Amino acid sequence: MAAASSAAHPAERPAKERLSIEVHFDPGESWSLPEDALRGLSARQKYIPSKYFYDERGSTLFAAICDLPEYYPTRTEHALLDRIAPEIMERSRPSDLVELGSGDARKTRSLLDVVGRNGKGTRYVPFDVSESMLRDTASSLLDEYPWLRVHGVVGDYECHLAEIPRGERKLVAFLGSTIGNFDTDRSRKFMRDLSSRLAPGDHFLLGTDLVKPRAVLEAAYNDTAGVTAEFNLNVLNVLNRELNADFDLDAFEHIAFWRSRESQIEMHLRAKSSLRVRVGKLGRTFEFLRGESILTEISRKYTCKSVSRLLRGAGLSPTGWFPSPDGNFALSLSTPSQLKFPGSGLKF
Ligand code: SAH
Ligand code: AVI
Repeated sequence: MAAASSAAHPAERPAKERLSIEVHFDPGESWSLPEDALRGLSARQKYIPSKYFYDERGSTLFAAICDLPEYYPTRTEHALLDRIAPEIMERSRPSDLVELGSGDARKTRSLLDVVGRNGKGTRYVPFDVSESMLRDTASSLLDEYPWLRVHGVVGDYECHLAEIPRGERKLVAFLGSTIGNFDTDRSRKFMRDLSSRLAPGDHFLLGTDLVKPRAVLEAAYNDTAGVTAEFNLNVLNVLNRELNADFDLDAFEHIAFWRSRESQIEMHLRAKSSLRVRVGKLGRTFEFLRGESILTEISRKYTCKSVSRLLRGAGLSPTGWFPSPDGNFALSLSTPSQLKFPGSGLKF
C-alpha cells in the first residue's frame, strides 16, 4: 500500500504514488464460479449469483444502463447526493471514504467535490469485484482530484469486508440500491458483518430504491434500447468463457417483472425452447424445458420502514433519512448504536 501521507497538499505527487490496490481473489483461480454455477444450475429454480454480471463487458453495460431514460435510480440518486453531500460530509468528517460496489463512482464525485472544497485529506477506498472497472475508476479520479489518495480493494463484499483498511473515521457508502440485489438472509448477514466493522464515529450511507408503481419499475428493467437485456444475457458469455460452457445466447430471452409480495424486481433468462447445455469445466450437462428460466438477479425495493428495520436489525442507528423530491429513491445515514442491540438510537 502506498504511504498514506497526511500532508495537506499532496498535489505534486504523481498519480501512481497516490494509488495502491489490493486484490483479494483471482477470478481465474479462487473465484467460486464453478461451485456457484454447479449449485445454481442444479437447483429447482435455476439461478446464477448477480456478481457474475460484472466482467469487463458487463461493467460497461451497467454504466450504459445508468444513462437510460427508463433507469431513473442513478440520476435520481445523483441529484439527491449533489444536494445533501455537504451535510453528509459535515456530519461524518471522514478520513476514509469507503465505497462498496464502487463501479464507475460517478455519484461519488459529489462527495469528493465537497472534500476538495474543504481542502481536507480524505482517502478514497473503492471496493469492487470488477478489477478492470476499479482500476479505470481509480485512474480517472486521481487525474480529476490531484490531492486525492486512492486505496482500492478488489474483492467480494460478501467475503472480504475484513480487508477494508482501518481508518480513523470512516464513511462507508453503499450506493445505487445495490443492497437490493441481496435476498433477506444475505442482506442480514452482510449488514451484520458490515456493522461489526464500524467503530463509534463511523457512518454508513446507504442508497435504496423505493417502492413505486409497477409500470415505472418494470420499464426500468425492460428498456426499449435493449441494454438491460444485453447486460442480462452477457452472464451467459461469462459462463461460456470461464467454464467452457456452450450456452447459445439466441436460445434465451431476457425477462424482468415486479413481484409485489417480495417487493422485488426479478430478472431471468428464459429458454425459448427445450435444450441442453454442456458445461465443460463442470463435466455436466444441464437440461432446460421450454419456458424454464435462470434467475439472474433480484432487485428489492424499500420503504422508510423497511430501511429502518434493516439498519436497526444490524445494530445501526439511523440518523438521517433523505428521500428524493419525487419519492423515487432515498439515502440514509446511520451510525453504530452506542448500545449494541437492535432498536436503539434515533428515529427516522
Ligand atoms: N455503486 C455504483 C455501481 C452499482 S453496480 C452505482 O451506484 O452506480 C454494482 C457494483 O457492485 C458493480 O460495480 C459490481 O462490480 C459491484 N459488485 C457486484 N457484486 C459484488 C460483490 N459481491 N462484491 C464486490 N462488488 C460487487
Ligand atoms: C446494481 N444494481 C443495484 C442494479 C439494480 O437495479 O438492481 C443492477 C441492474 N440490473 C438491471 N438493471 C440494473
